[in-house]
Amino acid sequence: MPEPVVSANGSKTAQGPIAERPGPAELMAPAGAATADEKVILQVKDLRKDFVIRSGFLNTRKLPVHAVDGVSFDIHQGETLGLVGESGSGKSTTARLVLRLLPATGGTVQLDGTDITGLDGAAMRKQRVEMQAVFQDITGALNAGMTVAEIVGEPLKLHQHLSKKDRRRESAAMLDQVGLRRDYLDRYPYELSGGQKQRVGIARALVLRPKLVVLDEPVSALDVSTQSQVINLLEDLQDEIGSAYLFIAHNLFVVHHISKRIAVMYLGKIVEIGDASQVYASPRHPYTQALLSGIPHPNPARERKRQRIVLRGDVPGPSSIPGGCSFHTRCPHVMEICRTVTPPLAEMPGGGAVACHLHANGPALGGASVNSLPLPPPDATQPSSESASA
Ligand SMILES: Nc1ncnc2c1ncn2[C@@H]1O[C@H](COP(=O)(O)OP(=O)(O)O)[C@@H](O)[C@H]1O
Ligand SMILES: [Mg+2]
Repeated sequence: MPEPVVSANGSKTAQGPIAERPGPAELMAPAGAATADEKVILQVKDLRKDFVIRSGFLNTRKLPVHAVDGVSFDIHQGETLGLVGESGSGKSTTARLVLRLLPATGGTVQLDGTDITGLDGAAMRKQRVEMQAVFQDITGALNAGMTVAEIVGEPLKLHQHLSKKDRRRESAAMLDQVGLRRDYLDRYPYELSGGQKQRVGIARALVLRPKLVVLDEPVSALDVSTQSQVINLLEDLQDEIGSAYLFIAHNLFVVHHISKRIAVMYLGKIVEIGDASQVYASPRHPYTQALLSGIPHPNPARERKRQRIVLRGDVPGPSSIPGGCSFHTRCPHVMEICRTVTPPLAEMPGGGAVACHLHANGPALGGASVNSLPLPPPDATQPSSESASA
């Protein structure tokens, strides 16, 4: 059964690399600049991707992998949706399906009202102008034999057929916007630091002023201080250009800072989606609670009370996804129904949606702050310095 598409609403949250968690007053604040009235730029419905992997003697056994299993969400103009989850949850596959770098097994992707799922040739090339990407492996993404001016100007050559002089002028203006001096125009990627390379990648992605930018772990390879600089830059550019962002990270803290809404993925499915301030202050799904419990609180008093939730076991392998709720093998609150019945992603009163039987009859764990979550059984909760997420 297709899962419901959850619309954007709610307010933008505190800014700064170490943003204070919002209090109850902020949670009740009216909707921010990008509201449900804003145009929908990306609409993803029931998206699926199955891979077949080979195993066993001489690789003769074929095993299906449901890497993306019925994912639905939308992103409004100028809005950022943060997509988080442990490694292997299907985030990058979702990004590649949205960008049409992979064919989908099922479902649809609409970009500004156009279904791009079946487009090819010239029609797809036209859509690509409006849809750009920034990846974690920036060194691999930048052509080592091209100068910064050529790298940033290439989309202008391919899609707008600008002259070399005009491309250089536009590239120089773009370097100003990403905070790189113009003398970097004639440098090669090997002459740049990691943060500078990512700025070049961002300049290239935004030079065509696309409607949508898909950012797959864009700051994960950078050191912490560079991470916050690049995130602040991305926010400033979004204010100037108005692109919608699909921002992927395994670190919920990074995503909270930039996202208006957050979607949490586990084994190919979205298990929780909602306004960033709500998800961060009162996570509903036990998986989201565990991920968030690993994040230090900036307030020392609340940090001392923080209760870590360390999940049992590892993420199950992609070809052995548990039946029922796929999280039930690690869930501190597992019930009998969870072993057999897959919970739908159900919209919740007050906004957002969660796929968890604990919420089948209304909020069960909702409304609690991370620091006052109901405690899971003793074997699943222990103080630890290890992260619950990948
Ligand atoms: N080309 C592929 N062939 C087979 N399995 C794949 C392929 N790409 C991804 N997968 C599998 O799909 C699942 C989701 O992967 P991915 O989307 O990369 O997750 P994430 O980005 O969240 O770490 C993983 O189990 C991964 O091994
Ligand atoms: Mg990935």
